[in-house]
Parts: sequence; C-alpha cells; structure tokens
Amino acid sequence: MNKLIVSLLLTLGVTGMAHAAGDVAAGQAKAAVCGACHGPDGNSMAPNFPKIAGQGERYLNKQLHDIKSGKRQVLEMTGLLTNLGDQDLADLSAYYASQKGSVGAADPNLVAKGEALFRGGKIAEGMPACTGCHSPNGTGNAAAGFPHLGGQHAQYVAKQLTDFREGNRTNDGDTMVMRSIAAKLSNKDIEALGSYVQGLH
Ligand code: HEC
Ligand code: HEC
Repeated sequence: MNKLIVSLLLTLGVTGMAHAAGDVAAGQAKAAVCGACHGPDGNSMAPNFPKIAGQGERYLNKQLHDIKSGKRQVLEMTGLLTNLGDQDLADLSAYYASQKGSVGAADPNLVAKGEALFRGGKIAEGMPACTGCHSPNGTGNAAAGFPHLGGQHAQYVAKQLTDFREGNRTNDGDTMVMRSIAAKLSNKDIEALGSYVQGLH
C-alpha cells in the first residue's frame, strides 16, 4: 500500500505536477516563426535578439509563459504566442534547450573589471557574485531555472541588467533576486559584465 502511494507520488511529481514535458521534434516544427529573430537553431546574429540555443528548458518555458501573459514585456513578440498552448511552449523550450549555444568574444579592455564583478560580486555593498547562481563558466543551473549566460550577446545582457535595475523587467519573482542585484550596478559595471558574459564559456 505504502509502496503504491510512493510510486504514485513519484509518477505525479515527474509528469503530472510539472509543466507538460516538451518534445524536441515537435518544437522544431513550431520554431520556424522564431528563427527570423532568434536564428534557425536559436543562435541569433543580432545583438539585441537573445540567443536561446542551449538555454535551460525550465527557464525558457517560464519566460515564454511570462512573455505570453505580458508579465515580461517583449514588444517584438507581441501576439506571437497568443495562439500557442502550454504544450507548444514546452515543445519550443525542449527544442531550443537541445541546441548548442555559440560563444562570442569579450572586449579585452573590459575583461578584468567584468571578471572581478562576475566572480567576486561587490562584497562591501552586499552584492553576491554571479557565479553562485549562474555558475563559474556561465552555464547557469537548468534544474533550478537559473539561466545560462555564457556566450550571450553583450548588448542583450546589458539591456536586461538595466531593465532589472530600472524596474522594466520584473519577472524575477517575489524575492527580486535580479532587481536587487542590478540595483548595485553602475552603467560601467553593466557594460563590463555584458562584455565579459559574451566571451564566457
Ligand atoms: C520579431 C523578432 C522576434 C521573434 C519573431 C521572436 N522573438 Fe523571442 N525575443 C525577441 C526579443 C527582442 C527578445 C528580448 C527582448 C528584451 O527583453 O530585450 C526576445 C526574447 C525571447 C525569450 C527570452 C530569452 C531570455 O534569454 O530570457 C525567449 C525564450 C524567446 N524570445 C523565444 C521566442 C520564441 C519561441 C519565438 C517563436 C514562437 C520567438 N521568440 C519569436 C524577438 C523575437
Ligand atoms: C541568487 C541567484 C542569482 C545571482 C547571485 C545572480 N543571478 Fe542573474 N538571474 C537569476 C535568476 C533566477 C534569473 C532568472 C529570472 C527569471 O526567471 O526571469 C536571472 C536572470 C539573469 C539575467 C537574464 C538572462 C536572460 O537570458 O535574459 C541576466 C543577464 C543575469 N541574471 C545576470 C546576472 C549577473 C551579471 C549577476 C551578477 C552581478 C547575476 N545575474 C547574479 C539568479 C541570480
């Protein structure tokens, strides 16, 4: 009896309670419209369009739900997700998570400053290092939903940090992790971090 309940709970935990499981092939078939901006495999060429190849599935799925509901505003994607259901968003997330993310290069003049902030934070101001959640090589923590940052376009990263700081991106949850971190960053800090992240792998 007990065994049965345990295995039932486990099954529910893995399938029922989580978001619908995504299917890579189904996601690829639905991704054509996204490729115009994010690149066919999710490695966008334009510095203001984020790379989503190799991004964590859980993070992708959360962003897609937040963008669809308007909790995160992405004007360029207005209306694009309206007719997509939970399964479609899960499939798209599985597809992009299965692709390999490309890496760019950091500006050599900004590496030292970017690296010091990324790895050391700002202890005096109580700002933790980025590595704690996004990992030392920038791969993030897919299971926890901490996004992969390594190789992301510097311009996009800088815009997100600025948006968090200015309260234009507020979907980082009630604990306001990224908004409180970004509040400690100057424009110059953000420029250095963006450049450093772009070359990180
Ligand atoms: C017209 C261009 C355009 C199209 C088409 C488009 N996107 Fe986007 N997308 C963007 C831009 C721009 C952003 C980032 C906006 C910002 O916050 O600066 C974005 C953000 C995202 C993000 C969040 C990335 C992150 O790192 O947080 C995901 C996920 C995403 N798009 C997936 C998709 C999917 C899936 C499709 C197809 C159904 C799609 N996009 C179609 C322009 C586009
Ligand atoms: C305590 C954990 C934590 C720390 C420390 C942290 N982050 Fe984050 N970060 C997150 C989470 C969680 C998200 C995703 C928020 C969401 O779900 O929208 C995020 C999102 C981001 C994003 C947006 C990614 C995208 O694709 O749009 C950037 C950029 C970022 N963080 C940069 C940094 C930098 C730079 C630092 C160090 C100065 C840092 N983070 C420190 C947890 C953290």
